Amino acid sequence: MARIVVTGGTGYIGSHTVVCLMQQGYDVVIVDNLSNSNTGVLDGIAAITGKRPTFENLDCMDFMSMSRLFSRYTDIEAIIHFAASKAVNESVEKPLMYYRNNISSLVSVLDLMHQFNVNNIVFSSSCTVYGQPDKDHLPVDETAPIKKALSPYGNTKQINEEIILDEAHANPKMKATILRYFNPIGAHPSAMIGELPNGVPQNLLPYLTQTAAGIRPKLRVFGNDYNTPDGSCIRDYIYVMDLARAHVQAVERMLKKKSQEQVEIFNLGTGRGLSVLELISLFEKATGVKVPYEIVARREGDIEQVWADPTKANTVLGWKADTPIEDVLVSAWNWEKRIRNI
Ligand code: NAD
Ligand code: WQD
Repeated sequence: MARIVVTGGTGYIGSHTVVCLMQQGYDVVIVDNLSNSNTGVLDGIAAITGKRPTFENLDCMDFMSMSRLFSRYTDIEAIIHFAASKAVNESVEKPLMYYRNNISSLVSVLDLMHQFNVNNIVFSSSCTVYGQPDKDHLPVDETAPIKKALSPYGNTKQINEEIILDEAHANPKMKATILRYFNPIGAHPSAMIGELPNGVPQNLLPYLTQTAAGIRPKLRVFGNDYNTPDGSCIRDYIYVMDLARAHVQAVERMLKKKSQEQVEIFNLGTGRGLSVLELISLFEKATGVKVPYEIVARREGDIEQVWADPTKANTVLGWKADTPIEDVLVSAWNWEKRIRNI
């Protein structure tokens, strides 16, 4: 079966994708520098799949080591490039770290792909490239305008997409699939792998589950005075396992040469927008656990509402995010309970 290199494969989305790839019979090589993950994830993957994936502790920015990797594995059919720094706040404080890591990692990978004649890449992009879409672009499809990035992190995703388009133009053999994720949440149903935020979580779901677990006294809801039905912000929360499956389908589409396009872009979301207050209420109903919360001021830089029009992914990629939100929230809670021994 085809060999796939997964950079950032011990990370949150990467590890779930590795499980799906292995279960479809792909031969996976994980490349990760463990800057935001640990090797315990490999145990979780092995517990689920019955096999430990090949792991290379490497930094994608380290061109020479990456070059040796490409020399050693001569049969790489595709790269899924997750490796990146992803904390929006941190990117505001350390912009150069974000530009260095997120841009030079991708440039190294593309350069080596060209040199070693590896022609397929799936790239992790984000709905952050749309900023706040205008009302007539909600739900947002792939043709919506790219807005000026609100953070250095967001800007790296926009620049990454441009780099891929430029390289594809220069290298006719290269094929790329750019996946724009909305808000990934949840964990593998086994609770053997899940999201491991560093320090105080910035994202809603890990903060919510940590509050439910009693680690945080209260969830702060950032604003209830937005122009939305209940006043809180609206997002498209997508189950990480559904997201993982999309990567397998994207790889298959490229390997089977189903597309005429050199670069394809897909929004990966459910098509359903949920407010912060709705999500809390759904979590409480699904798990039977109360989440203490308070309404506080808006968080700077937050977008009021964004959710996906996933029609293109549904029809062209043949993929749909179909896990019920209740199951997704239960998976997140089971993961939190397992890592806290609750
Ligand atoms: P994550 O931090 O859990 O995983 C990223 C992995 O990449 C980590 O294991 C980290 O150690 C590794 N890494 C970082 N820099 C590296 C480097 N230079 N060399 C090798 N490994 C490196 O993040 P995630 O949530 O799994 O996100 C994966 C990708 O999806 C990222 O590109 C992120 O920007 C993108 N994305 C994430 C979200 C989200 O909300 N989680 C949304 C949209 C897009
Ligand atoms: C979701 C909603 C908050 C925490 C970020 C990145 C984006 C993408 C996904 C990578 C918002 C509210 C949150 C809390 C709250 N990542 N909230 N209390 O901001 O949509 O997107 O992650 O590409 O680029 O910006 O996700 O989970 O931080 O917030 O009320 O303690 O939850 O205001 O409305 P966001 P989030």
